[in-house]
Amino acid sequence: MGVIYIACDHAGFQLKETIKETLNSAGHSVVDCGTSSCASCDYPLFAHDLCRRMRQADDALGILVCGTGIGMSMVANRHPHIRAALCNTELHAKLSREHNNANVLCLGARMTGVELAKAIVQAFLSAKFLGDRHARRVDEFNQLEES
Ligand code: RB5
Repeated sequence: MGVIYIACDHAGFQLKETIKETLNSAGHSVVDCGTSSCASCDYPLFAHDLCRRMRQADDALGILVCGTGIGMSMVANRHPHIRAALCNTELHAKLSREHNNANVLCLGARMTGVELAKAIVQAFLSAKFLGDRHARRVDEFNQLEES
């Protein structure tokens, strides 16, 4: 598996640290894009930074954590190469990979407990894109003109 980029805002800091430790312990290569404390900060800046870094590697995955996961997912999905999925269950995470080829997982630290968040991350990392008809649909994501 490629590099896993991870970033958060102040609301996601503790959960980001926990996930990072878990991933490091499991032998993953993790790049921490901040934030580095619970001090108040602006989540768009961290989401943009992570997404820019993900341009470098096709097989990279990202994890973004804020209070709800909503703001992070909104910002990340402005980047054409990003398919960010806000996941509240393991099934969301599995299907976001299998059907949507999600490359960024967004989590809400104020919404999702630590153990569930770890299970969601595991489900996200374990699942594989199914391709076929799903590939055609994913290819249509950036087709913004009417056809
Ligand atoms: C920060 O208070 C909060 O707005 C942020 O973490 C996130 O939930 C935004 O979507």
